[in-house]
Amino acid sequence: MAELIDGKAISQSIKDEIKEKTAKLGEKGIKPCLAVILCGDDPASTVYVANKKKACEYCGFDSVSLELPAGTTQEELLDRIKELNEDDKVNGILVQLPLPSHISEDAVIAAIAPEKDVDGFNAVSVGNLLIGRPGFVSCTPAGVIQLLKRSGVEIAGKECVVIGRSNIVGKPMSVLMLRENATVTTCHSKTKNLKEVCKRADILIVAIGKPKMIDASYVKEGAVVIDVDIHRLEGKKLCGDVDFDSVEKVASKITPVPGGVGPMTIAMLMNNCLEGCMRQNGLLNE
Ligand code: GUN
Repeated sequence: MAELIDGKAISQSIKDEIKEKTAKLGEKGIKPCLAVILCGDDPASTVYVANKKKACEYCGFDSVSLELPAGTTQEELLDRIKELNEDDKVNGILVQLPLPSHISEDAVIAAIAPEKDVDGFNAVSVGNLLIGRPGFVSCTPAGVIQLLKRSGVEIAGKECVVIGRSNIVGKPMSVLMLRENATVTTCHSKTKNLKEVCKRADILIVAIGKPKMIDASYVKEGAVVIDVDIHRLEGKKLCGDVDFDSVEKVASKITPVPGGVGPMTIAMLMNNCLEGCMRQNGLLNE
């Protein structure tokens, strides 16, 4: 039976470490500040934004929250981002996605100053990641790396298969595993023989958006399996892309849903905001 990778506990220890570092910064009169923009009233986004504000409070950060109506024009939103870019008190800016359909997410992401791009979605952040320069890394894949390292999983030299190639998870995930010296294969909807490719993996990272698609027949005996997505089934039960009951019988370690990757995203957002604040104050040796 696989050992559980406890994302809730690992995320809690990361937030506690951040809280401690923030208290030390406070002695120098520095306090990180995250600005979060919510445009419209998508119920899931409203909950995510509330959780981000709560995490800021826990870690000892200031937070600024802009709640804009769904009818906000792209120009108005870009103006607000420009104000936050120029506000020295603000260290990180996050615009909650998805945005109303009349607003270009690409234009909004491009408008955030790279030094405040705590989501790591900006082309400058992605480019820095690709060529190994300091910069912000997308929070969910950064969280997966922390889950692996803090659970004692060795990455260097391992066969890693990532299923999914989104800009937010799959692509940065593959680059991060490469940076950790894994041998990386990225799979997607056009991949032939997906099952055989997955069976090669020592570390299988799944972000495909299909409930319970990956069962034990995709998994090598003893593999580490990371399930990134979360779905709500009829009857309200939550599940991931991995058929947990089937895969836990063959994997050596596995993340549950909920309580695996999910809680890591906010912890890494806090980490990015603290890092941004320290970089902006000349306190990082990079
Ligand atoms: N919507 C769902 N996940 C995310 C995220 O990580 N960042 C932003 N900005 N929006 C999201």
